Amino acid sequence: MADKPWDGRFAEKTDQATEAFTASIHYDQRLYPYDIEGSMAHCRMLAHVGVIADAEADLMVQGLADIRRELERGAFDLDPSLEDIHMHIEARLLQKIGKSAQKLHTGRSRNDQVALDVRMYLRHETRRTIALLRSLRSALVAFARDRATVILPGYTHTQRAQPVCLGHHFMAYYEMFTRDQARLQDALQRINIMPLGAAALAGTTYPIDRRFVADLLDFPEVSANSMDTVADRDFIIEFLSAASICMMHLSRLSEEFILWNTQEFNFLVLPDAFATGSSIMPQKKNPDIPELVRGKSGRVFGDLMALLTLMKALPLAYNRDMQEDKEPLFNTVDILQSCLDIYVRMIPKLEINAAAMRRAASAGFLNATDMADYLVKKGMAFRKAHDCVGKVVAFALSEGKELHELPLETLQQFSQLIAADLFDHLTLEAMVDRRTSAGGTAIENVMAAITKAEADLDSEVVDGKDA
Ligand code: ARG
Repeated sequence: MADKPWDGRFAEKTDQATEAFTASIHYDQRLYPYDIEGSMAHCRMLAHVGVIADAEADLMVQGLADIRRELERGAFDLDPSLEDIHMHIEARLLQKIGKSAQKLHTGRSRNDQVALDVRMYLRHETRRTIALLRSLRSALVAFARDRATVILPGYTHTQRAQPVCLGHHFMAYYEMFTRDQARLQDALQRINIMPLGAAALAGTTYPIDRRFVADLLDFPEVSANSMDTVADRDFIIEFLSAASICMMHLSRLSEEFILWNTQEFNFLVLPDAFATGSSIMPQKKNPDIPELVRGKSGRVFGDLMALLTLMKALPLAYNRDMQEDKEPLFNTVDILQSCLDIYVRMIPKLEINAAAMRRAASAGFLNATDMADYLVKKGMAFRKAHDCVGKVVAFALSEGKELHELPLETLQQFSQLIAADLFDHLTLEAMVDRRTSAGGTAIENVMAAITKAEADLDSEVVDGKDA
């Protein structure tokens, strides 16, 4: 059992159960690259302001670099008695370089250290998530372009409503993921703030240079209030909130894939490489990937609730409760990135059953609104037209026919305004193409939206910094 850096005032050894209960090393070890980089910058700064000698700083930075290599190789023993990654690295530095290591923690606390590590970690992962979202948006746009003119039913209440083109349907998801990306980009500004120097809560008596550390670690900003700095987890909550909204969108898309892949819809064939079978029913090919994406969204929402609940009654400043922020955060990062990644791979391979979509769009009176609009164009008031077409629908239902399958003479018994040009008015293409209002499903609109999206994607400078 290692000596503890804080046990000077303790008369008794820590109970092993206490060590096991308080340890976070089994999960916070993933912060090690940031802990080491942060410690190196802190060291450099202490030498820069003359709190330690340059030679001592060199020795520490060298030792920290060696420890990083050990950690990368996995040649590093974890010891629950050392609680967390911060103490592990400091203890190892002492073993390696001797007493100079005891100066590393000058003017610093684990409270601002952990805030720094998590901010650096999350800055990196937010940039990676943004890059994945951009890839997903590209995949959606490419998919939309290739199949833009396929016509399928648009639904309200999960009932066939009006025909739309497939490009429009997929571009709807493009819009959602564009907003998700913008939310992360916005959150990144508040993640990317340098907390070190807040120390335990009140700042420090050493003449530290926080801007110097921020420059070394590429932070544009230094946090303003030391108490807020060690107590703030808003930046995690913002990420979890943006992640939850994004998972909600992924889950809706999944739901459509699952429905469309049923024999009942038969709109979509999932690629074999992205589906799984049943251990008992030989005929089955199951949509497990979309089901798991849909299912995992629940865990991400749970992580957001966990963090809000964790923080809601904590008085200033740091409280140990806050150690519980990491597992939900890591869990959400892992889930969100893996869901985005699998969809980036799967979407280009989806096979669309255009004939089934078209068949579905041709049955179920999806042209009723357009027939009413036709009567309006011929001079009837919309409410009257609505009522008139409603009666035609009721009649057609009793005959087992669609509107466009009724003979002209029959239709004319409902209104003398109906002429032979009605049938051209009611083709699927005509119905889709007439919806030229801004944001509507007309092919020309959709092609313009796709072209604009492609240009936007091209012009997005990916903030590649440490991504
Ligand atoms: N493992 C701790 C955490 O994640 C580090 C900070 C510990 N600070 C303290 N005062 N015990 O929050």
